[in-house]
Amino acid sequence: MSHEHLSPKVSPQDALKFFRSIVGESNVLTDPSDLKVWGTDWTKVFEPKPMCIVKPASTKEVSTLLAYCDSNNLAVTPSGGRTGLCAGAVASAGEVVINLSRMNKILDVDTVGLTVTAEAGVTTEALQEAAKAQSLFFPLDLASKGSCQIGGNIATNAGGVKLIRYGGTREQVLGIEVVLANGEVLDMNVALRKNNSGYDLKHLFIGSEGTLGIVTKAVLRLVPKPRNLQIAIMATDNFTKIPQILTRASLAGVSITAFEFFTEVAHRIVLKHLPGARTPFQDIAPFYVLLEVEQPGLEPEIETLLEKLFEDGLITDAAIAANSVQFKEFWGLRENITESLAAHGQVLKNDISLAIDKLDDFVKALEELLASKNPKNMDLVLFGHIGDGNLHINYVSPKSRDSREFQLEARAIEEDVFKLLSKFKGSISAEHGIGLTKKKDLHFTRTAAEVAWMKKTKAMFDPKGILNPGKIFDI
Ligand code: FAD
Ligand code: MLT
Ligand code: ZN
Repeated sequence: MSHEHLSPKVSPQDALKFFRSIVGESNVLTDPSDLKVWGTDWTKVFEPKPMCIVKPASTKEVSTLLAYCDSNNLAVTPSGGRTGLCAGAVASAGEVVINLSRMNKILDVDTVGLTVTAEAGVTTEALQEAAKAQSLFFPLDLASKGSCQIGGNIATNAGGVKLIRYGGTREQVLGIEVVLANGEVLDMNVALRKNNSGYDLKHLFIGSEGTLGIVTKAVLRLVPKPRNLQIAIMATDNFTKIPQILTRASLAGVSITAFEFFTEVAHRIVLKHLPGARTPFQDIAPFYVLLEVEQPGLEPEIETLLEKLFEDGLITDAAIAANSVQFKEFWGLRENITESLAAHGQVLKNDISLAIDKLDDFVKALEELLASKNPKNMDLVLFGHIGDGNLHINYVSPKSRDSREFQLEARAIEEDVFKLLSKFKGSISAEHGIGLTKKKDLHFTRTAAEVAWMKKTKAMFDPKGILNPGKIFDI
């Protein structure tokens, strides 16, 4: 892969000299082992081959770096915590990686307006902790929170496990500061909850995967701390009962803060790879649902709901966490699926979504499709934020299997899943993004007209195409 539309006007040696003069010698990495680590993300599919890694400490430095790269036709890959799952932060063709890790200051927590202002390199967990310190809550939550950065969350419009209640990243962002490809600083970092003065440009940058600008700061919404969270894991014998359980929980008026599911095979793999993991169940069931609710009153809403679900044959077993240790253990069984799968085998990931009211019919059609495929040396591992209509399908084969053969077989099934999904008007990416891995599949979700307008938007903000070239679509 190369960026033919760009012919650099400077030698790598001169570029490195310039970068060092801006961010300091120790903040420009060129050692091959560093390039390997910092030039990639979680996917590890494409070989990283960046020119260098540059770590600025301020918006001004980001601006100077981008202005230089733009005038010298150098491709740039913005990079955060490198936990991305679609190779968005992968630099595989000599790009200059601009990594935001040093821009990690929390600038303000406003307990009146309920906002937090932070530099883009602050981790999601650090934001959560800053909110907690003020008895508030930052609602974006995902298993990668210890490493992923708010800039990366914004660039991917990350979803996570609390979207059902609080919305995704887009809903938390009140304002952002962005550096455009030519170095211009676009300050949209205002903490207004209501602002109908013309186009709200920040939304173009949210979910743009580093192709329109580098996010350097953000103001994010905080909310009051949820009170008395309860968590249950339920077992059910049929995938199609899961949307029905969701409907029943919503109609019962329980205050759902998370509604996740995973299959028996996902559960088994976590129990095998997560040290100390225990299942709360005696008997194995094909599907499990994790339900978290806020139960501020005295009424035992979750118990009442589970009893009714049991009576009506929607669940076969259930366990409610009895204390904070078990609460964490239950979450651990869900949140450690990704890491356990990675330890278990080679994985191809799908991150699909569809309208909740179509879930039931889609799930039936998907079950039939996957059963008809019946791959011999592959587990189909399903889990995800099913309460948001977001289903993660992971194709998993032993590490010992020939990887080319695995990719081909998984791809063939994936393509059929996408064809089915497009009939239901679903999306091939609910929350992970397109990056490099899903670029070929964008047409399943977006019309040619939509992609054409995306390209025009890209050309407007980044006419030379220096920012994350090759990601989402080719220009
Ligand atoms: P990176 O991987 O570094 O980059 C991601 C993209 O953003 C790239 O295109 C990059 O170029 C761009 N980028 C990064 N920083 C900036 C910036 N400052 N300005 C402009 N562009 C930038 N995702 C979910 O949505 N929900 C989940 O529940 C979830 N769970 C996960 C669990 C695990 C164990 C792992 C490994 C990943 C998970 N992810 C999940 C995926 C990932 O954590 C998110 O996509 C996250 O938002 C990426 O943030 P990052 O800082 O690691 O970004
Ligand atoms: C999750 O929901 O755990 C994440 O999106 C990660 C994944 O899909 O593996
Ligand atoms: Zn997810």
